[in-house]
Amino acid sequence: MTALAYLKKTEKQRMKELFDLLSFPSVSAKSEHKQDLVKCAGWLTDHLNKIGFKAKVYPTGGHPLVFAEYFVDKKLPTVLYYGHYDVQPPEPLELWKTPPFKPQIRAGHIYARGATDDKGQTFAHIKGLEAILKTEGTLPVNVKMIIEGEEEVHSANLPKWLKKNKKMLKADIVVVSDTGQFSKKLPAVTYGLRGIAAMEVFVYGPNRDVHSGSFGGAIANPVNVLCSLVAQLHDKNGHITVPGFYNGVKPLTKWERAQFKKLPFKEAEYKKMLGVSGLQGERGFNTFERAWARPTCDVNGIKGGYQGEGAKTIIPSFASCKITCRLVPNQEPHDICNKVEKYLQKLAPKSVRVKVDKWGGAKGVIVPTNGPWLDASARAIKKGFGTAPVFMREGGSIPVVVDFKEILGLDTLLIGFGQADDNIHSPNERFRVVDFERGCRTAVALPFELAAAGK
Ligand code: BES
Ligand code: MN
Ligand code: MN
Repeated sequence: MTALAYLKKTEKQRMKELFDLLSFPSVSAKSEHKQDLVKCAGWLTDHLNKIGFKAKVYPTGGHPLVFAEYFVDKKLPTVLYYGHYDVQPPEPLELWKTPPFKPQIRAGHIYARGATDDKGQTFAHIKGLEAILKTEGTLPVNVKMIIEGEEEVHSANLPKWLKKNKKMLKADIVVVSDTGQFSKKLPAVTYGLRGIAAMEVFVYGPNRDVHSGSFGGAIANPVNVLCSLVAQLHDKNGHITVPGFYNGVKPLTKWERAQFKKLPFKEAEYKKMLGVSGLQGERGFNTFERAWARPTCDVNGIKGGYQGEGAKTIIPSFASCKITCRLVPNQEPHDICNKVEKYLQKLAPKSVRVKVDKWGGAKGVIVPTNGPWLDASARAIKKGFGTAPVFMREGGSIPVVVDFKEILGLDTLLIGFGQADDNIHSPNERFRVVDFERGCRTAVALPFELAAAGK
């Protein structure tokens, strides 16, 4: 039997196992789920051991990670696969049609938190490798695999672990499936990811909420002040006004702008998918440039004052918001946090106190856009999807990709199986059954193509 026939034969079982994996509420951001992450890591480890890998759970100081290995021959290239089993919080729960950790297939989609990001995509590789092992008795490359539990919380403990285990992680190339395809008709290889700088801003006013009739007009309102500060982060052309924010940012090359222009873009469909009446962004750039290759500064959440039913006439005592900036290569997360803080402190009136908690983040990355590994991955995608991939960048961040280069000296192949409307990080996250199947088939083809690319 061929590996592809094995995939076909085990289709039902494979889906059942994916459902098991998706049932763990492995939400890394919430301490109440700590044990669920441990259990999920345990399940993956058992599964990998069962199909022939040597797998183990490793403590990291945060949530544990799974490391697995299948060694064949030191003359063969070694491929380091990376994925994450942690997921984003599923809230708001009331917007889910079916519960986030009770996977269900509806109209050709697997619905569950983590379906695409990133359990489904990671599992496709595991199942592809299993299909080869079960039918050929071995693999065409040596395989190492890291499945971590802290990607959605900035992979804070992973760089330390990579440094400590550098020898064990010796490899030739990294493979990550944690991105998307260009569209339903067009698979992609991603060559760029944005970085991220995260912070929380607090504005303090009176020492308690006070009557807005008695004191309104006489003191600063922290919510008003925060809104004003946020409003001043961009000018009328959509440029970010933080001094020094764009330092080192390289202009897009002619080649890249031409490449982006070649990609089919249907503005009406894009707007419809998002339910917006218009697009907006930095002047002088088109949608792909804005979303993939230009830095941003966005509020992710804001609070302050009365949130309950009906009216309440107060001047709130404080307000706060969470801000993340998406970064491009040459911007450094801590430096950006410092610059934003300095700017906000300068803008804020003396009548309030402003505090900024700076969390740092991850740098943006560009991986090689040519070479034998990349060609091999394009061939594998062509085999798995029936269509050759386009090259694109993505606006999201995968912090560890920079660390693979800086700590292990390894380039990464970003081979995404998801779609833009898979609702990652949103209610009703889903993964198309066909994308899972094509992902599994790509995962079968990939090791052979990488072996052919040689060492
Ligand atoms: N899989 C995503 C990254 C991604 C999103 C790539 C969209 C391509 C398109 C990843 O799990 C993710 O969400 N990363 C976080 C990282 C952050 C928490 C440090 C992100 O981008 O917000
Ligand atoms: Mn992900
Ligand atoms: Mn994510």
